[in-house]
Amino acid sequence: MTATVTSTSAQPASTGITFPEGFVWGTATASYQIEGAAREDGRGPSIWDTFSRTPGKVHAGHTGDVACDHYHRYVEDVALMADLNLGAYRFSIAWPRVRPDGTGPVNTRGLDFYDRLTDELLGKGIDPVVTLYHWDLPQTLEDRGGWTVRETAEAFAEYAQVVYGRLGDRVGTWTTLNEPWCSAYLGYGNGIHAPGRQDPAGSLAAVHHLNLAHGLAARALRSAGARSISITLNPCEVSPLDPANPADVDAARIIDGVANRIFLDPLLRGHYPADVLEHISRITDLSFIKDGDEAIINAPIDVLGINFYTPSYVSAKPGQPAALDYPGSEGIAFRKPVGPVTDMGWQIEPASLTRLLTRIHRDYPGTPLMITENGAAYPEGVHDPLRIEYVDAHLRACHDALAAGVDLRGYFAWSLMDNFEWAEGYAKRFGIVHVDYTTQQRVLKDSAKWYREVIRRNGLE
Ligand code: NOJ
Repeated sequence: MTATVTSTSAQPASTGITFPEGFVWGTATASYQIEGAAREDGRGPSIWDTFSRTPGKVHAGHTGDVACDHYHRYVEDVALMADLNLGAYRFSIAWPRVRPDGTGPVNTRGLDFYDRLTDELLGKGIDPVVTLYHWDLPQTLEDRGGWTVRETAEAFAEYAQVVYGRLGDRVGTWTTLNEPWCSAYLGYGNGIHAPGRQDPAGSLAAVHHLNLAHGLAARALRSAGARSISITLNPCEVSPLDPANPADVDAARIIDGVANRIFLDPLLRGHYPADVLEHISRITDLSFIKDGDEAIINAPIDVLGINFYTPSYVSAKPGQPAALDYPGSEGIAFRKPVGPVTDMGWQIEPASLTRLLTRIHRDYPGTPLMITENGAAYPEGVHDPLRIEYVDAHLRACHDALAAGVDLRGYFAWSLMDNFEWAEGYAKRFGIVHVDYTTQQRVLKDSAKWYREVIRRNGLE
């Protein structure tokens, strides 16, 4: 299906735009970032519990022990969502609540929570969009090798079936993984995320086992009857700093390979790209890729989730040490952000989103796309004109992509509320709802009120 739109990018930014009928408007969160209740109702420890308690790993020693206390406040939070007029809510399930040690007995009380949450959402007319893995791996599985071993992928498919067995009658959209790029490269490459390992070869094995986990789970969910199967990636537009310099163009190809195509190609074309295999075989032997794996990863999906925040620019720079999150990236420099940045220091370039969506639509045709995350961190405060500006500009970028023929089905703002921003703890705030972490009071920021109007209008003024 190609969506119809009512205006194009040729018009000035202040022109009103309308999104296609049925465009999905939502917000997103993730279990470890908001739930708290880390030791309640039989939940087992995850790698983020261990990592956040390790001195020096997370800003100011913050942990997700309490977070936004959503586990106890979900009724209030769903009421907020209804007040914002959200059509959909994307949340993740904590694997260690469902299977505390990853593979053993199922913890019914953990599933009960998601059951209650799902019913609360449906009762308010909000579509529950489930992500099965948003980074909180059961610690027991990490102790057995984590994503560097194949057994974790197999365990994930079993866990997916358990969750489907409980919620499959009410949840339509099943997203397997969120941003496997981060799990692999930040978790096992540069170690800034849990489990904090610095092992370039291990990070590549993790990429493959995450891809495989997706494929095995997608196959299992499909045969169990899931209506819509998805995965959320964070593909980045990687541009050569000087497009006229062949060395820069080659640097961009290499980074695009290890960052993007290593996920997109097996997923949507059924094989790893030859240049990527050649590149990574200089870092690790590839015996972890078994015959038939790529066909499994290539299981059909119904929608591809895209998380987008910022672009990348790279150039060839002999002598440059490798960026640990990109194995084999010696001699490639990443440009420091230029122009306006968010509180994360991330460059703001909405046109990059249009180009990225257009490229994915062109190179991997036939798969509907969904923005499953987009948003910005700004310092604390309920008056947040810069966040409104950021989201407004990125929605216009989405609309430009629609006008160019991209089959984009919806947009989820990251995030519903301020929350635990991984290694940055609570210091970075992405919410459209402000959270006071002392009182747990929620207050709508200006951006939330503005977003409610966007949803009501199905467009921008
Ligand atoms: C992507 C991740 O999925 C989410 O957990 C994180 O908070 C946002 N990016 C912002 O960094």
